[in-house]
Amino acid sequence: MAELNSGKSSCFGTKKRVLALSYSQTGQLTRVLERIIEPLRQDGAIEVYVETLRPRRPFPFPWKFFRFLDAFPESAHMTPPEIEPLTLTGDEAFDLVILPYQVWFLAPAQPVVAFLKSPQAQKLLAGKPVVTVIACRNMWLLAQEKMRGLLQSCGARLLDNAVLIDTSPTMVTLFTTPLWLLTGKRDFLPGLPPAGVAEASIAATRRFGLALADALRDGRERGTAPLLSGLAAVDANPRLLFSEKVATRSFFIWGKLLRAVGAPGQIRRVPFLVLYLVFLLTMILTVVPVSLLLQVLLRPLMQRRFALLKQRFELPSGSGRERMMQYDH
Ligand SMILES: Cc1cc2nc3c(=O)[nH]c(=O)nc-3n(C[C@H](O)[C@H](O)[C@H](O)COP(=O)(O)O)c2cc1C
Repeated sequence: MAELNSGKSSCFGTKKRVLALSYSQTGQLTRVLERIIEPLRQDGAIEVYVETLRPRRPFPFPWKFFRFLDAFPESAHMTPPEIEPLTLTGDEAFDLVILPYQVWFLAPAQPVVAFLKSPQAQKLLAGKPVVTVIACRNMWLLAQEKMRGLLQSCGARLLDNAVLIDTSPTMVTLFTTPLWLLTGKRDFLPGLPPAGVAEASIAATRRFGLALADALRDGRERGTAPLLSGLAAVDANPRLLFSEKVATRSFFIWGKLLRAVGAPGQIRRVPFLVLYLVFLLTMILTVVPVSLLLQVLLRPLMQRRFALLKQRFELPSGSGRERMMQYDH
């Protein structure tokens, strides 16, 4: 797993202070974060502190099949296991927080939720502007709704959300992503596109860092306007919303059952996980394609509703591109 070095919080002086959280299994999200904070680190007026999240019982990569499946009840219920103590006490003051996260079973990844539910996060984030950055397969709409709730309970102000996805077709990534996570190989199946976010998209996230550096210099993080607007920060696809809603409901109900049967890792969960797997595969092979097909057929009728949903899920940063030229270097 790629890691970033932490800076020192004691030598900040009058510089703008940025806290960046870091957790990544394959290194994908770390690479995104590195690109974003690079311009901030190069700016003499900004100090960046990276806090790496470490689950007490690390999640494996590549995943063993049942460990992967066994992660869904606690992901869906947002009841993660503990993480190692942070290097921060919670009393440090930051001007801006960058919070990258992956989506696990349509919710923010467990280590990130564990951080947000920690007493330190409550103190660190209270009243602070937060920029969330998602790198996932392509289903993040409801995870971001959950993230909004988590941030709200910390009293944080969500200023921006940038999203990176695997742009291969949904029915392809439904196979390539799990195979990547279970084998560690991005291109396990010959002939199919490699899993994950394209390297060019990761490299281009530098524009967010450049824009954040400018905003910090002007003190715009204290305002309420997004700092990443006009930078194609997010392109929401509300056509996946129906599948997300159905799957979230099933993760929640089955997750409740699984949690009643035993704790994560307990052998008695396995028969129920097998049952759930059959159910899940049936859903993937029926609900997802049927809902996508229905939406194609109903497109003329749904166009206005989708446009409104797209706009809503793209808040606060939006999909506008008007400042791309300014930060495209
Ligand atoms: C347990 C688990 C569940 C996942 N569930 C989703 C999901 O619901 N939606 C999605 O778009 N991606 C999902 N992913 C993919 C991740 O969001 C992410 O892209 C991938 O794990 C690589 O992240 P990394 O930076 O930790 O390496 C899942 C990954 C894992 C490990």
